[in-house]
Amino acid sequence: MKALITWCLLVTLGVHSKPMKKWHNSSDGCPFYMEYEQKFNWFQAWEECLNLNMSLLTPDTFYKQQQVNGILELSFDKNFSYWLAGHDNAVEKRHVWATTGKAFGFTNWAKAQPNWSTNDHCILVHESTNQWHDFPCATKLGFVCEIRQCSMEKPEVLDANHWMNQKKYTINVWNVLANRNPEQ
Ligand SMILES: *[C@@H]1O[C@H](CO)[C@@H](O)[C@H](O)[C@H]1NC(C)=O
Ligand SMILES: *[C@@H]1O[C@H](CO)[C@@H](O)[C@H](O)[C@H]1NC(C)=O
Ligand SMILES: *[C@@H]1O[C@H](CO)[C@@H](O)[C@H](O)[C@H]1NC(C)=O
Ligand SMILES: *[C@@H]1O[C@H](CO)[C@@H](O)[C@H](O)[C@H]1NC(C)=O
Repeated sequence: MKALITWCLLVTLGVHSKPMKKWHNSSDGCPFYMEYEQKFNWFQAWEECLNLNMSLLTPDTFYKQQQVNGILELSFDKNFSYWLAGHDNAVEKRHVWATTGKAFGFTNWAKAQPNWSTNDHCILVHESTNQWHDFPCATKLGFVCEIRQCSMEKPEVLDANHWMNQKKYTINVWNVLANRNPEQ
């Protein structure tokens, strides 16, 4: 019930403050926030989702990717590039989901990706193919937020401090990056 109220609040806020449509439901009824207009670096995108009590999209299953692609195909005229929750800021060349801390299982890399160019530590969906690239975290892009508890194929057990842990995690990511200026 609490989740439902929060969610309704989010939808209301979203609809009233933005003239363009950024809130969408997947075919299984989960809300997604799709920022295609304004541009953010990966860290800002992460925080934008947290501020909505959501998290940056974690397409760690084929199912999730299908849900999101379904929205994009139905509701958007053209592709846009957007950040995912994936990165390798903590351990170089070990891609993990910032939301779960887990290494990538399911992947949807574009051809010849990841190419591990210098400073390519964050993962995006590229508008040319709707597939993944590694990219500099400082790049300004759109992003997609999800409510992970809802959008998982099977409900996920999350501990009560989920949001607090996510916020702590953000601080950890920034600390790890202390020597790496995301604006570079
Ligand atoms: C999403 O679904 C909910 C519940 O069915 C509905 O109230 C809401 O208006 C829908 N939102 C959008 C953006 O379609
Ligand atoms: C997010 O959750 C916190 C804590 O439950 C609450 O205070 C805040 O209003 C929520 N923010 C939004 C945008 O719903
Ligand atoms: C790596 O891929 C990006 C596109 O994601 C491209 O712009 C860049 O030139 C590539 N770098 C190398 C070294 O191939
Ligand atoms: C958009 O993504 C699709 C794959 O989903 C791709 O086939 C298409 O070429 C892309 N469109 C543009 C304009 O890049």
